[in-house]
Amino acid sequence: MNNTVRLGKTSIEVAPLGIGTWAWGDSMFWSYGQDYDRNDVKNAFITAMEAGITLFDTAEVYGNGESERLIGQFKQENSQNITIATKYAPLPWRWNKQSVSQALTDSLNRLKVEYIPLYQVHWPFMLMSQETLMNALADEVEKGRIGAIGVSNYSAQEMKKASEILSPRNIPLAVNQVKYSLLTRKIETKGITHMANKLGITLLAYSPLAQGLLTGKYSHSQKQTPEGARKLDFRFNDKGLNKIAPVVNLLKDIAAKYDKTPAQVALNWLISQSNVIPIPGAKNARQAQENAGALGWQLTNGEVEQLEQISRPWLNN
Ligand SMILES: NC(=O)c1ccc[n+]([C@@H]2O[C@H](COP(=O)([O-])OP(=O)(O)OC[C@H]3O[C@@H](n4cnc5c(N)ncnc54)[C@H](OP(=O)(O)O)[C@@H]3O)[C@@H](O)[C@H]2O)c1
Repeated sequence: MNNTVRLGKTSIEVAPLGIGTWAWGDSMFWSYGQDYDRNDVKNAFITAMEAGITLFDTAEVYGNGESERLIGQFKQENSQNITIATKYAPLPWRWNKQSVSQALTDSLNRLKVEYIPLYQVHWPFMLMSQETLMNALADEVEKGRIGAIGVSNYSAQEMKKASEILSPRNIPLAVNQVKYSLLTRKIETKGITHMANKLGITLLAYSPLAQGLLTGKYSHSQKQTPEGARKLDFRFNDKGLNKIAPVVNLLKDIAAKYDKTPAQVALNWLISQSNVIPIPGAKNARQAQENAGALGWQLTNGEVEQLEQISRPWLNN
């Protein structure tokens, strides 16, 4: 059993690496139903659980609810305890507190549960005020329908404000879920890391493999092109791949020393930043197994430092 870490100042304990499930049921950005299917993601679910992963991240908007529906089905078929984190989408027409309660009811139904351990606000732009939203979420904690409140894509100041609104209700803001990897480090330069550490808010790192780039499988020599919307992402074209080659090469060198893979080293680097839990997406059992292999060992301080230095050009990305 891996060590566990707490989500912020809550009593919720999870393994120091989670799994992201955006690709489960999503054929808008990803290519669910084409190069992988329900059976693949079900095997990813089982494999991750068996490897000791406990935090499963989803959202009501992923696959228009299909990601939540699939997790609900898999959870019923496999009774082990997992910590589900889903997200509320602050859509423009959701402007009163009943919208929060209705969205949560729908997520609970799709997930086939009566309680969601972590409920996060997907992004900070909304018509509803933060006061209304945070208090509506606090009401749901008091009703026992959610265990903890999180936010996502919030700036340092937005995170602080949300935390201050919750404070009189004696509810800590548990997490801020942010884009973070060796190729996206702006949370460090925009004060988010600093503020999260100061307030005791855990950072959940999304896209921790830079959507597959840090696995090293997309390169000139491999000639593998990504599926889905990433075909339009300039980071995956020749010029983009050239630019990241020094980072990928260093990941490969370090990986070879430990008999690990570049993905495992990239995830281990994130785990070694204190207060960060990466949530890599996995579309099948092989990816889930490989990503879970980022746990149970540790890069040396020197290697952490080397990776920090080589990825400095991405400090503002
Ligand atoms: N809060 C937000 O706004 C937000 C935004 C984005 C994501 N998220 C969350 O964060 C999670 C992860 O982010 P992400 O999916 O964008 O990016 P990611 O975790 O960096 O990359 C996931 C993709 O990389 C490839 N991959 C993963 N593990 C691999 C392995 N071991 N070997 C080879 N390829 C591997 C797979 O795609 P291929 O096999 O097709 O290459 C997979 O779909 C999401 O599922 C979601 O839960 C949240």
